[in-house]
Amino acid sequence: MAGITARKVTVQVPAKLNLCLDVVGEDGKGYHLLDGGMLAVDLYDTLTLCLEEGEGIEIDCNRPGVPLDESNLAARAARAFFQGSGAELSQKLRIHIKKQIPAQAGMAGGSADAAAVLVGLNHLRGMGLTLPRLMELGLGIGSDVPFCLLGGCARAQGRGERLETLPLPQGVLVIAKPVGGTDTRGAFALYDRRREQLRRPDVEAMVSALRQQDGAGVGRAMANVFEQVCAPDAVHALVKVMGEQGALGASMTGTGTAVASLFPDESAAQRCLQLLKQKVLPLEYLGLHRPVEGGATMLEAAPPSP
Ligand code: C5P
Repeated sequence: MAGITARKVTVQVPAKLNLCLDVVGEDGKGYHLLDGGMLAVDLYDTLTLCLEEGEGIEIDCNRPGVPLDESNLAARAARAFFQGSGAELSQKLRIHIKKQIPAQAGMAGGSADAAAVLVGLNHLRGMGLTLPRLMELGLGIGSDVPFCLLGGCARAQGRGERLETLPLPQGVLVIAKPVGGTDTRGAFALYDRRREQLRRPDVEAMVSALRQQDGAGVGRAMANVFEQVCAPDAVHALVKVMGEQGALGASMTGTGTAVASLFPDESAAQRCLQLLKQKVLPLEYLGLHRPVEGGATMLEAAPPSP
């Protein structure tokens, strides 16, 4: 039965990487159909949701520059949850976002927060919506939201809603984001202009390498069609440096601009990290990460006041 089951919940949600990304068609409604492998990594946004006296949605965030109005995907997720679940927002919903996922990186920062809000509200309001229903609501907010709810490793098809779980790859990732981002809509428009000339990532090879736990195979299949379309020079330079440092593979994630590289073990990844720390290129983000199971997950819930 629906009802307020807690007054405050905290939800943690991992960043997403595209290990492999191709565009395979269009849905006739203004979106492109994708195919590829997605991976959750241990870099998290943490959201605290709180119901208080008052009305409306109030967002605050530890990182300056994040929009705090209704354009924030966290606010849009809250609206979609109340509309889609039939629950009523009769109090003020306060959302605090502790951001660690870099912005404009292709790591689903906004979608991750939307997924966390859906999970948090589902608990806070005791609605008991199933994961498939939350994913359905999530897809209306952003293409990466269903994966951010599921997490782990998955082949993602359609707009990102057809998800098939795969085993996590072995190894350690170095993630680096050069200065500046790309515009997602613009990236798809550029793709449309150049689609005939592009080399295609081998998604089937990625899926079978993941299934067989073949790290070298996963590395070889790391590729993103958008790298040929909209990647700035710094992305190509990072892919090259990571390869020279012994990465099994390296590619841009999403429409950019973060680059992820897979190493067989921590010491190899550390060597690459240390080199990149020496300011080979100006970076907005640099970190060493591991694959993780699970998506947006409840951390704690404070009971309702008596
Ligand atoms: O997901 P988001 O709303 O950020 O996407 C921005 C724009 O990118 C969309 O309006 C659409 O033009 C394009 N897009 C697309 N196919 C996708 C995702 C985004 O064409 N799967």
